[in-house]
Amino acid sequence: MQSSASTTVIDSRTVVALLSRLRSMAGQADPLPLYASLRELGDVVPAPWGGYLVTGHRSCDEVLRSPDWLALDQAWRAQRAEGSRWSTPSSRELEQTLVTLNPPQHTRIRRSVNNIFDRGTLDTLRPTVERVANELLDTLVEHAGDADADFAELVGEQLPVVTVGHWLGLPPEDFDLLRALTHAQAYAQELLPTKRQLRAADHAIRGLREYFTALVARRRAEPGDDVISGWLRAWDTLEPDRAVADEHVYALAMFVVIASLETTSALLTTMVWTFDRHPEQRSWLREHPAAVPDAVEEVLRYDPPLHLTTRYASRDLVLAGVPVPRGEVVHTLLCAANHDPSETPDAHTFDVTRRARHISFGSGIHYCVGASLARLEAGVLLETMLRRLPALRVVAPPTWEPRLAFRRITRLPVSVR
Ligand code: HEM
Repeated sequence: MQSSASTTVIDSRTVVALLSRLRSMAGQADPLPLYASLRELGDVVPAPWGGYLVTGHRSCDEVLRSPDWLALDQAWRAQRAEGSRWSTPSSRELEQTLVTLNPPQHTRIRRSVNNIFDRGTLDTLRPTVERVANELLDTLVEHAGDADADFAELVGEQLPVVTVGHWLGLPPEDFDLLRALTHAQAYAQELLPTKRQLRAADHAIRGLREYFTALVARRRAEPGDDVISGWLRAWDTLEPDRAVADEHVYALAMFVVIASLETTSALLTTMVWTFDRHPEQRSWLREHPAAVPDAVEEVLRYDPPLHLTTRYASRDLVLAGVPVPRGEVVHTLLCAANHDPSETPDAHTFDVTRRARHISFGSGIHYCVGASLARLEAGVLLETMLRRLPALRVVAPPTWEPRLAFRRITRLPVSVR
């Protein structure tokens, strides 16, 4: 596979056709055969617009772990043409966030949040997650009545925002606004955003800046025993200039919220959809609830909330036999990698009894900060649903946003009896 990638000429029309099918509703519903077709083209496939798509598990892992491959930082973005997607306000704003920083800046900021979800914090959050999961399922049952209820809106979208909002001490009346802004800003991180999507992302990022700047200012004025006041105290010891400290805390708070909402909501709703298509797995799990954590890992492997991340080559490099010139981007296709048969036998089978290996939380220095919180939410919700709602089933096909990076089921009609 590796040598064929370097010697075979790949028809760009084939790649374009596969990507446009991935964006279609049919592709969103069943992307696996399309990723398999991309993988058959090679581990590293030239993208028609420049750059490369990385399809194999080993190559994706190498890109994410190796210091040779860098996040799309300010220096890289500054070299793109003025007026391109990289000079939009939403792109510029992301330049300050962890995910677009490289060492040494990344190392310094990452250190300040590495332990935010340590065991003690998770143990403190667990009762809230359990209570909220139960309340949301009560609401689902009420709405389900005789008609269908939308699991995505009533549960999948709510648990992450209530959890992270509670953790950061945000007012519940702000949750709908934060969800809407987060959905819209995600376009700035899409593979091929349209102009309309970029305008929506720009608008959203202005709203996020306004919201989180005001939040940091409030905590600065009235510090308390909350997470953001704690970050301010920590950054005051690192930065002599308070304005700089405030800016760091702003970027952390804003990014933690947007990083947690889109992804965790996708995981929770996808989980219900995936089990609905594999009822025998659901029945087995109901009899073996101790396997819930493994089942969550398998859902993450099978259909990750984030399907791609991007890096650029810090110098002329060779990846799986393919030369990649300095500055060129590579998109690691996380879902394709999770289904790489050389890494996972029978990879297209959803099997909650396997020890799933995946890179759905990334790998290397940018490995997800909130993985344990996402696992907690998904595990609690899955265990509660299996116990309380044995008849939960999907009654109409879901609808998706046509995206290639952040998955989003916009509607999942369910019945509970
Ligand atoms: C199922 C849910 C989640 C998934 C699938 C997910 C996935 C990811 C992935 C793939 C990355 C690496 C991106 C890259 O390498 O370019 C990442 C980074 C990150 N995630 Fe998550 N995430 C989830 C939930 C969360 C939550 C709940 C939080 C916080 C509360 C969070 C905060 C972050 C942060 C701050 C980073 C940046 C880390 C860095 O660059 O050093 N994520 N996430």
